[in-house]
Amino acid sequence: MEALRLGLAGLGTVGAALVRLLDQHGDDFAARCGRPVRIVAVTARDRAKVRGIDLSGVRWVDDPETLARDPEIDVFVELIGGAGGLAERAVRAALHAGKHVVTANKAMLAASGQDLAEIAEAHGLTLAFEAAVAGAIPIVKTLRETLAGNSVNRIYGILNGTCNYILTRMEAEELDFDTCLREAQRLGYAEADPAFDIEGYDAAHKLAILTSIAFGTQIDAEAIYVEGITSITPADLEAADELGYRLKLLGIASRTETGIEQRVHPAMVPKSSTIASIDGVTNAVAVESDYAGQLVLSGPGAGGNATASSVASDIADIARGIKVPTFGRAARSLAPHQRAAIQTHAGGYYLRLSVYDRPGAFASIATRMAEHGISLESIVQRRREPHADAPELLRPHSPQPVFLITYETTEEAIRAAVNQIFRDGHIASAPQLIRIEPLG
Ligand SMILES: NC(=O)c1ccc[n+]([C@@H]2O[C@H](COP(=O)([O-])OP(=O)(O)OC[C@H]3O[C@@H](n4cnc5c(N)ncnc54)[C@H](OP(=O)(O)O)[C@@H]3O)[C@@H](O)[C@H]2O)c1
Repeated sequence: MEALRLGLAGLGTVGAALVRLLDQHGDDFAARCGRPVRIVAVTARDRAKVRGIDLSGVRWVDDPETLARDPEIDVFVELIGGAGGLAERAVRAALHAGKHVVTANKAMLAASGQDLAEIAEAHGLTLAFEAAVAGAIPIVKTLRETLAGNSVNRIYGILNGTCNYILTRMEAEELDFDTCLREAQRLGYAEADPAFDIEGYDAAHKLAILTSIAFGTQIDAEAIYVEGITSITPADLEAADELGYRLKLLGIASRTETGIEQRVHPAMVPKSSTIASIDGVTNAVAVESDYAGQLVLSGPGAGGNATASSVASDIADIARGIKVPTFGRAARSLAPHQRAAIQTHAGGYYLRLSVYDRPGAFASIATRMAEHGISLESIVQRRREPHADAPELLRPHSPQPVFLITYETTEEAIRAAVNQIFRDGHIASAPQLIRIEPLG
């Protein structure tokens, strides 16, 4: 049978790993695909760069858009990255030239996935992106194919390995955020500019894609409520432990009465939940659906080899002639996303307050909570020993950390109560507020 001819744009971490994978498993991969799969042309920025991969017999093309239109390729593999720029122009060029596209580019898909899928489907082509969400974990296939007969109620997971690594180290070694971030950078887990990871945007891109497939809605990354992990302190992790929880950065999308709620934020998860046991750079995604119940998939969420493994699985589908709609149903039929605002979110909350140690403060805080219909499940006060050299008169009033867990309430109510408590002058700084996620 004729070989499937690939044009590979991007020879960095993932692109180079894909070249190695095809080198190493070429015959076996061909047997599985029912035909040989060959890289016939490549492009990257710097032709002279030493990459430790064998490109003999492979044609070099000077720019990705030219490669995308190359008459000798069947599939354009985009492993450059970035939304709205060169990578997207090349993907559009490839689709218009009648080439299938395989990509790992979550930023591009979160911004333009629907449009690109419509172009692909109008031309009878495949736009495949298993590698764009959670590295080696086959969550796109699971949602799109395995769970095709189900209605999904909630999908959630640890979608950013850098954040999970930082939180795991902070908890295990009682280290502060900055120290763990530097360590993540030293080990190559975080970029030199790590904002995208630690502020939650990388997880949000992945969640936007998963939400669309899980709920059959148009991608709406703008609708996601996003909070990162930069405000988490060792005190929060210690309190979580005492109260029966672990702290994870989660991406969560669920069906609610008011629409689809999409959020990325640190969450307290019960220690007994599967997600609580996921440590380090590992990712995990859980899907709750009506017939299949709960599925949890975990594994390496990033890295060249893990990501190339998912790219190869998309290439195999194309080689075998397997065609599945990009988002699990025709892209043109995806419903407008009905967003549920974060203010309507209902759940329990953890609060860390720095309370001035003076008479009436506690009673006043409890009253404000009650005024907003909020019941408290537990209160933990940690008395700090006064600093030996603090002036005698100041000591009794110095702020003390107080940890509260509420029963179910709404985001609107808890925000209003906390703002009132702050205005009352009983707390020394803005409170820490972390949502509790009831997980199985
Ligand atoms: N790394 C991961 O763990 C991971 C995981 C999941 C998804 N992804 C996604 O996979 C994609 C690739 O990521 P990566 O980590 O492999 O990135 P990378 O190591 O930075 O590699 C990017 C590649 O694109 C090439 N490139 C950049 N600008 C170019 C231009 N103007 N013209 C031609 N080539 C250009 C670079 O060329 P030079 O080599 O010549 O500089 C490089 O080979 C991204 O969409 C990323 O989000 C990565």
